[in-house]
Amino acid sequence: MKPYVILISGQGSNMQALLEDQLPGQCRAVISNRPEASGLATAAAYGIPTKVIDHHAFASRDAFDMALADEIESYTPQLVLLAGFMRILSDAFVARFSGRMLNIHPSLLPAFPGIKTHAQALAASVKTHGCTVHFVTPALDGGPIIAQAAVPVLPDDTEESLAARVLAEEHRLYPRVARWFLTGQVHLIDGRVKCTAPLASLESAIPRPAKDR
Ligand code: GRF
Repeated sequence: MKPYVILISGQGSNMQALLEDQLPGQCRAVISNRPEASGLATAAAYGIPTKVIDHHAFASRDAFDMALADEIESYTPQLVLLAGFMRILSDAFVARFSGRMLNIHPSLLPAFPGIKTHAQALAASVKTHGCTVHFVTPALDGGPIIAQAAVPVLPDDTEESLAARVLAEEHRLYPRVARWFLTGQVHLIDGRVKCTAPLASLESAIPRPAKDR
């Protein structure tokens, strides 16, 4: 079973979706930079070893990144999944996991990088929003895109209602892409995504109104 690790900073709902999907791999650890992350208890309930690398305990960002990278490597993962992990990682850290570290971002990148993506989408009056799974590169939220899931923005949407609609799609999309990676259907080659997953599995990632199903 291919070993992988999941990094969280908070509730870990994407982590839970990944664990629920029973991926073709072994989750060796859930690692958080925040000791108070409620996702740690969730991971423990699934029997997954947990570890806290508290960024407050380090004198510098680089020292934290080094300790975190060493901890991750101790599990010899073939895949590192950032799931609500709220730290900006150094180029040196990212380089250690190039081609085997994914992130899910709550917008249709390259639109709305950074934080408060749903507020950005509402402010821009976009009619379609969603989430993106991408390889992690030094460019913040700029790595090569593997897959996206789109949702409509409704006239009466609030930041909260839109966030909930996107999060539901994150929980569908991320496990699907993680499975593709663990089954050798997704690779990063010369900075470009090569995905051999059947289109059908991509289409099913895009929500259809109930009447079309
Ligand atoms: C959510 O805003 C999600 O859209 C983004 O990270 C935040 C926390 O996610 N990916 P999680 O519930 O901790 O997985």
